[in-house]
Amino acid sequence: MTDLPQPLPRVAVSRTGLPGTGVAHLASRYDVTAWREETPPSPSQLAGLARDCAALLVLGSDRVDAELLDAAGPQLRVVALASMGYDGVDVAAAAARGVVVTHTPGVLAETTADVAMALILMARRRLGASMDALRRGEWGAFRMEAFLGLDVQGATLGLIGYGQIARALARRAAGFGMRVQHHHPRRREDDELSRWVSFDHLLRTSDVVSVHTPLTAETAGLIGAAEIARMKTTATLVNTGRGGVVDEHALLDALRCGRLHSAGLDVMVDEPRTDPDDPLFAEPHLVVLPHVGSATEATRAAMVDLAARNIRAVLDGSAAPTPLPG
Ligand code: DGY
Repeated sequence: MTDLPQPLPRVAVSRTGLPGTGVAHLASRYDVTAWREETPPSPSQLAGLARDCAALLVLGSDRVDAELLDAAGPQLRVVALASMGYDGVDVAAAAARGVVVTHTPGVLAETTADVAMALILMARRRLGASMDALRRGEWGAFRMEAFLGLDVQGATLGLIGYGQIARALARRAAGFGMRVQHHHPRRREDDELSRWVSFDHLLRTSDVVSVHTPLTAETAGLIGAAEIARMKTTATLVNTGRGGVVDEHALLDALRCGRLHSAGLDVMVDEPRTDPDDPLFAEPHLVVLPHVGSATEATRAAMVDLAARNIRAVLDGSAAPTPLPG
């Protein structure tokens, strides 16, 4: 009796045209189906794509919940995120079904820290507002008092969360002559870059507060009106993590009434934000970017390649290189 050839494991990819060579490598070994449209799949479309798959390659903005996992079926073994953040994943539902979930630490910290540093400079030196004024034809005669910002050198940077991106930002900030302190709720350690301080001390003494904590039940709305009220009126708030950590309404109120000097956001609560009249976009003391922290060709390719390596490892029966932290 001859063995019938086994069908190749099916792998679904939630976007078309992903950078890097990861998807091509997967296609050389598995039966890969990638979403073909430019618009991302709706949850029900993603569920349809995932049916009968052994592996899913998805982005951080895709929702991975019990419905999706059940729609995929019991043969599903791994969900690989091309993203560091995994707040869109129902981790308990995946664990209950024996599905490994992986993400992409280690490949995007430096690139994202560049954007955090850029937001600090843009917000504090009012570079965004200056560019807007220029585009409106408002660059008048040179005036000593026009477009004045606050210095970055000599300022204290307070990092909320102290993972890879925060440490990469600490290195950059040192080069700009900033003092660095951080708060992490469990790891109360100083290192050569930064000293640990309490959350309250960080809010009260930092000139720039930069958010680097993942979005969890504990951190949702962590920076609200009460926390902003404890910050210096000359402070800048920067968020390159997840929008839900900062209360946007409280932030806008504080900027409008001069309670806070400035802010820079790469992430917002409901993304994408497509209304050109969004109040966030009109606030002159706020610099807003469309979630571009990891957006360089090399970094986005590295994220997809790492996600693909995670899939190969699990389907080969090996340990995933970068599973979610236990
Ligand atoms: C990440 O990797 O978490 C970035 O925010 C892109 O999703």
